[in-house]
Amino acid sequence: MARIIGGIATSHIPAIGGAIAGKRFDEPYWKPFFDGYPPVHAWLERTRPDVAVVVYNDHGLNFFLDQMPTFAIGAAAEYQNADEGWGLAPVAPFPGHPALSWHLIESLAADEFDLTTCQEMLVDHGFAVPMQLLWPGRATWPVRTVPVAVNTVQHPLPTPKRCYHLGLALGKAIASFPEDLKVVIVGTGGLSHQLDGERAGFINREFDLLCMEKIVAEPAALTRYSIPELVELAGSQGAEFILWLIMRGALTGRVTRLHANYHIPISNTGAGLLLLENAA
Ligand code: DHB
Ligand code: FE
Repeated sequence: MARIIGGIATSHIPAIGGAIAGKRFDEPYWKPFFDGYPPVHAWLERTRPDVAVVVYNDHGLNFFLDQMPTFAIGAAAEYQNADEGWGLAPVAPFPGHPALSWHLIESLAADEFDLTTCQEMLVDHGFAVPMQLLWPGRATWPVRTVPVAVNTVQHPLPTPKRCYHLGLALGKAIASFPEDLKVVIVGTGGLSHQLDGERAGFINREFDLLCMEKIVAEPAALTRYSIPELVELAGSQGAEFILWLIMRGALTGRVTRLHANYHIPISNTGAGLLLLENAA
């Protein structure tokens, strides 16, 4: 059977893609951020997951405001990536796992989560930047992927509670796939940031740290926030934290925090990283 070995949450700020391309890892601005990742690399090297289920938000590449699914899932053999305007060069296409995708779609639909199914899907920086952070410097990707795209762009957004429950159903769906696969679940985005409007540049360190703490052992406590409350506390784009809650919901075993890093600012964002192991 498939097994969820752990969850990783990481910011996906497009400027990171530029810093990776320019190899700016040791520059004073970037070092405290990139220094967070080697413990995660070591864990991935040791555990060697077969598949990454990546929960992210599309920022206007594959979906635009005219057609915006609340939840969508890829069911393709391969996912091309492209830049939706940040000037990031595309990286190698990501291999998919259609059989696992269709199993997840079936199981989630049976559990009353009806996702938009995408047999073709472009993935943007919300997906590609975290993949480059987790598996750096690869000509080919060492994991197959299943992208799960969640609307954090056009209101109404799904509530934190709904997202946590989707995570629970996703965890159950993955664990019932008959093949022996090691699966890591990745939630991207956040933490606090607001890119436009009167509060552009807003970052809330205290709230970010509270979220990073509570999500480990008391994730359900974070589902009491409404989307307007989350926007007030984390900024309009900080609502991406719902993607972290989906990741956490999928970890239904004994969860241990193995590593965390938080650094502000990276671009306009409180950059967070969390590695959670999920024991049976
Ligand atoms: C930034 C952060 C994001 O999550 C994003 O999608 C785009 C930009 C930023 O801080 O620049
Ligand atoms: Fe984003």
